[in-house]
Amino acid sequence: MRRVALCLTTAVFSLMASAQTITYSSEKKVWLITSEYSSYAMGVSPDGQLQHLYWGGPLWRIDDLPAAAQRRDISSFDPHQMLENEEYPGWGGPRYYEPALKVARADGNRDLVLHYVSHQIRGNELDITLKDIRDDIEAILHYRVYPDAGIIGRWSTVRNRTSQKITLEGAQSATWYMPRGDGYRVSYLSGRWAAETQLNREPIHEGMKVLESRLGHTGHNLNPWFAIDSGDAGEEHGRVWFGALAWSGNWRISVEQTPYQQVRVTGGLNTFDFAYLLGAGEELETPHFYGGFTNQGFGEASRLLQKLELESIEPGEIKARARPVLYNSWEATEFNVTEDGQKALAGKAAKLGVELFVVDDGWFGKRNNDHAGLGDWVVNPQKFPHGLNSLIEYVNKLGMDFGLWVEPEMVNPDSDLYRAHPDWVMNFPGRPRSELRNQLVLNLARDDVRDYIFDVLDKLASQYNIRYFKWDMNRTFAEPGWPEVSPDEQKEIWVKYVLNLYDILARLRAKHPNLEIESCSGGGGRVDLGILRYVDEFWTSDNTEAFDRLRIQEGFSQAYTAKLMSAWVTDVPNMNGRNTPLQYRFLVAMQGALGIGANLNKWTDADFALATRMIGLYKQIRSTVQFGKLYRLLSPRTNDTTANEYVAANKAEAVLFAFRHSQEYSTLPPMIRLIGLDERSIYRVESIDGKLIGGSTEYSGAYLNNNGLQLMLKGDFDSTAVLVHLVR
Ligand code: DGJ
Repeated sequence: MRRVALCLTTAVFSLMASAQTITYSSEKKVWLITSEYSSYAMGVSPDGQLQHLYWGGPLWRIDDLPAAAQRRDISSFDPHQMLENEEYPGWGGPRYYEPALKVARADGNRDLVLHYVSHQIRGNELDITLKDIRDDIEAILHYRVYPDAGIIGRWSTVRNRTSQKITLEGAQSATWYMPRGDGYRVSYLSGRWAAETQLNREPIHEGMKVLESRLGHTGHNLNPWFAIDSGDAGEEHGRVWFGALAWSGNWRISVEQTPYQQVRVTGGLNTFDFAYLLGAGEELETPHFYGGFTNQGFGEASRLLQKLELESIEPGEIKARARPVLYNSWEATEFNVTEDGQKALAGKAAKLGVELFVVDDGWFGKRNNDHAGLGDWVVNPQKFPHGLNSLIEYVNKLGMDFGLWVEPEMVNPDSDLYRAHPDWVMNFPGRPRSELRNQLVLNLARDDVRDYIFDVLDKLASQYNIRYFKWDMNRTFAEPGWPEVSPDEQKEIWVKYVLNLYDILARLRAKHPNLEIESCSGGGGRVDLGILRYVDEFWTSDNTEAFDRLRIQEGFSQAYTAKLMSAWVTDVPNMNGRNTPLQYRFLVAMQGALGIGANLNKWTDADFALATRMIGLYKQIRSTVQFGKLYRLLSPRTNDTTANEYVAANKAEAVLFAFRHSQEYSTLPPMIRLIGLDERSIYRVESIDGKLIGGSTEYSGAYLNNNGLQLMLKGDFDSTAVLVHLVR
């Protein structure tokens, strides 16, 4: 047995003082994972089961925890296994809740009971090996603690050490347990195309709620994030357990309350249409599932996840770089891109202060509309008679970086690529190939397709001075057939597609360290912590209408940080036929990574003047917005006024954004109390447009936190921002 463990002999042990995140008591066979924010514990029962023991506020004394125990059956209908919180239960014996691992052996035997074998602690990482009580089928549970955010990353490696092949019928990353009890609520993000990340909050009752994607990508409909609170949490108070699954394919998170008042959350690879063959000696690693706890409400839960993203998940090389101000002509020109047209827009964008100029769809092949060209990644000579370099050099001379739109996973049947390789798309032979937006999905699970796509992108990035790819994916899977492999391997397409996608991204980044990538999937269809390891930002939604955006952005911010939230200012009327003032549109977009997506050819001098001022202002506040802490002060779901505050880590700068939906009954907008300022310090407040009521320009942090500011927000779609600077 392989074991490197720390034996605790002292009765009282201060984990805080030792700054040790993972400790083990060999007497009790208990592990305690602890950070400033939370603790997590599990132990081995006398019969060898690994049981969950604790998840909540920080503990400092491992001896307080009980050893894991075997329970008694309540009745022949209530077996003890259903009362024991197994950390990673196999499907076997009398277990009826959601299992973490389900296997089928070659002879049809499907019983799996996992017991503890060994463990290893390495700094902030812990591996615990479990094994079936008879066969050499192992699950190695991995735990990685991120002490600065109090978050634990969990995943497993399932290893077949038998001499027979086995089929995994379900492979989850982790099961999480709330303290036993009821009255919990679950928060989650739902939506659809152009209406992503809508926040829902509802009570948990007995039974199961499933959040999932069966779409092949992460999906617009549900996002792999959850928060569970004790029933009474608010933005800045109350106990919240939260988690996010790092997977960009079919995922599943089930939230289940058993008849024994136990809420459990199980997440990982979706079990729908899932089968993964493991030959003798083979293994599968499941996606990382991050989980954290706070007793300071949903706002703090978001800030902890956001911290994790900024410090530990975003690609390392350039994560310290603030997102540049971008221009993208998609909404202005759609497919009608030409060298001259793009140059004209680039000239105007540069004068505004734009730093990254992106050419969207339409630059390649016969791409004059969405019926043709996808797959043919060669510059269209009619649109760019002097090649792409002429435009890129022009853009670079204007002082901007150049970015290019690609949709590498797709093909139009009307393309040279499809004519040459009709077998490269996912398909069931003899069955229809369902088109969506006139396109089919290349079977990226195939290694030859993966290598082809890598070569295409590598050539583009090598041949041209491209700083940034907007990587799009504009449809969901259908007929996910992979006829070239044996029938018992065909369902692996769901997993291997994503692994190959990650592989391409990783290789591209390694070869082109300055290249940045935006994850877009018809808006926010591929927003998750799995792809975040390889990309710099997300395209939040194709809905750029500023009022709708407030709620999309509120939902996005539950799980993802502002720096990742690409947000454009576009023209009006936009979706819903709505008109909002240009300042309102700017201030909404300035709460994330600002971009301009308007048709600059139609802008007036006044529009240019306002935009130039707002972009200048954004550059002044962007490190606070992109790297600071977000406080959601007033929600657009429940208030006529929406307010968000961003505070720099050192509390020396803050910015308050506020938006009024409509003026009714001449009511005054509310006082807006700030959060997170240093109470003993003096701050100067600076309105961007004179809408601050009150004579003084200097206040103590205590006054701003406790009394707040009154803003003169009068009309429909009125907006303002207040900059807050530390004086002393
Ligand atoms: C969908 C994206 O979300 C849009 O921003 C744009 O890039 C189009 N695709 C182009 O086809």
